[in-house]
Amino acid sequence: MRILQISDTHISAEHADFSTNVEAIGEVVRARNPDLIINTGDLAMNGCISPVDLELAHNWQQSLGAPIFSVPGNHDVGDRPEIRADQALDSVRLDRFRQIAGSDRWTFDFPGWRLIGLNAMVFATGHQDEDAQFAWLEAAVSTDAKVAVFMHKPLFIDEPDEGPRGYWTVTPEPRRKLLQILGKCDLRLVASGHLHIARELRHGNVTHIWGPAASFVCGEIQEDLGGERRIGFIDYTFDESGFSHAFVFPENTPALPLDPVLDRIYGHQPDDIQ
Ligand SMILES: [Fe+2]
Ligand SMILES: [Fe+2]
Repeated sequence: MRILQISDTHISAEHADFSTNVEAIGEVVRARNPDLIINTGDLAMNGCISPVDLELAHNWQQSLGAPIFSVPGNHDVGDRPEIRADQALDSVRLDRFRQIAGSDRWTFDFPGWRLIGLNAMVFATGHQDEDAQFAWLEAAVSTDAKVAVFMHKPLFIDEPDEGPRGYWTVTPEPRRKLLQILGKCDLRLVASGHLHIARELRHGNVTHIWGPAASFVCGEIQEDLGGERRIGFIDYTFDESGFSHAFVFPENTPALPLDPVLDRIYGHQPDDIQ
């Protein structure tokens, strides 16, 4: 099973600054003819404001020539209210994502494996879908198969028991609960996006992989979190014994920084952005 993980495409009608990178990634993805594509979130730039960018992103994904699953990012459905009050996750934004891009949580089985897509944006929001997703996950991990989880935000930066990392990761309380539930299955992989950084680290049997963005990297607005700030995607091969993966960084996708266009896109400059 050949699976390509793309991430943080940030497709937009109004802010098309990074479309050359996204189109170049799309060309390489099509040429590799995968069995499945997974987008680990921030499909759109302004998806939580209007449906236009999400519809554009969906149409682009349909052009890639392979089945595709997506999980939502903060630019698609919003985030915790303390991150940005005017773009808090709510039911309207969630429903819009589901109608345009498909379910925000899903499973996909093939011999030896269960892939689980999670909506990382509901954690620590108090929205009813947070508990609903935990209950759904309890059932989803009831399998003898090896499990790979795909979600927008990483669980942590360096250590599973580290403290809050602000905007960058799942917060400690839902992280603890997630790891407790995922501890009931044969978890092998947690793949995420959001940081616009390519990185991998291993804890026990679990490989944690940060997918690079297809659009832009963060410059001075992001502290050093390790890994590589490059544009690309990940090429996985899964078989019944395990999986292998390779980061792919096409030559014609420069590491365009967000910083020069940040104010125009965001309208203001929050402390932490991505
Ligand atoms: Fe992003
Ligand atoms: Fe994000």
